[in-house]
Amino acid sequence: MSQEGIFLDSAPADQLQSDVKEKKGRSRLGVIVTGVLGGSLVALYAVAAPFVAPALRKVCLPFVPATTAQVENVLGVLRARSGTLVDIGSGDGRIVIAAAKHGFQASGFELNPWLVWYSRYKALREGVHRSTAFHISDLWKVSFAQYSNVVIFGVPQMMDQLELKLASELPSTAKVVACRFPFPTWVPENTAGEGIDTVWVYDAKAFKSHLQHGMTRKTTPEHEDTPESHT
Ligand SMILES: C[S@@+](CC[C@H](N)C(=O)[O-])C[C@H]1O[C@@H](n2cnc3c(N)ncnc32)[C@H](O)[C@@H]1O
Repeated sequence: MSQEGIFLDSAPADQLQSDVKEKKGRSRLGVIVTGVLGGSLVALYAVAAPFVAPALRKVCLPFVPATTAQVENVLGVLRARSGTLVDIGSGDGRIVIAAAKHGFQASGFELNPWLVWYSRYKALREGVHRSTAFHISDLWKVSFAQYSNVVIFGVPQMMDQLELKLASELPSTAKVVACRFPFPTWVPENTAGEGIDTVWVYDAKAFKSHLQHGMTRKTTPEHEDTPESHT
């Protein structure tokens, strides 16, 4: 057989080999693309789910950070106070961190772990990590009995339940500050700011005496009444 004949015979085999290589390369690329896409979707879900979850609860309390004026109003009405402070649903930690900078031993309770990790990082960066603590917790499943200053930026649908919970847990020396939405039956001793930045201050002595004058409503939503320890 001539040299030309040998060359012509090996051409289909070479072609076949390069087709197989190309196919292998394409399927490897497919696996990588699927892996990256799947991984990205899982990561996106892991980040977004905690932000969406509050909207799916019976009482929807979404992450809406306090405005600068709101934070200033909270600190303004508490300027004569000291000791422990808790922000219920602490979001990105801005109230807790600002309170720590004003000398409070400040804690936050927050359902969304990303916001809690971010708050801890921010407290560290801003040098107040020793006077702050952030807990991943459901506000209905922990007690606030140890706090003498309580801040809540809630929604109207939860305020009546929270009135009962705080009235039964807090010491009579405590003060409670409600941001944007007041408590429905308590009478505030003071207010500050206006519009969406308004804050209302309540004295525990007053609202606890209210409680003693006969009310027996339930303090936790029916679907969330198992006690829980916090991290
Ligand atoms: C209106 S934001 C207030 C954030 C923060 N206190 C501030 O003023 O900037 C309410 C926060 O409560 C959190 N939250 C919602 N349901 C909660 C629950 N059951 N327990 C604890 N935190 C909750 C939300 O994730 C959100 O960050």
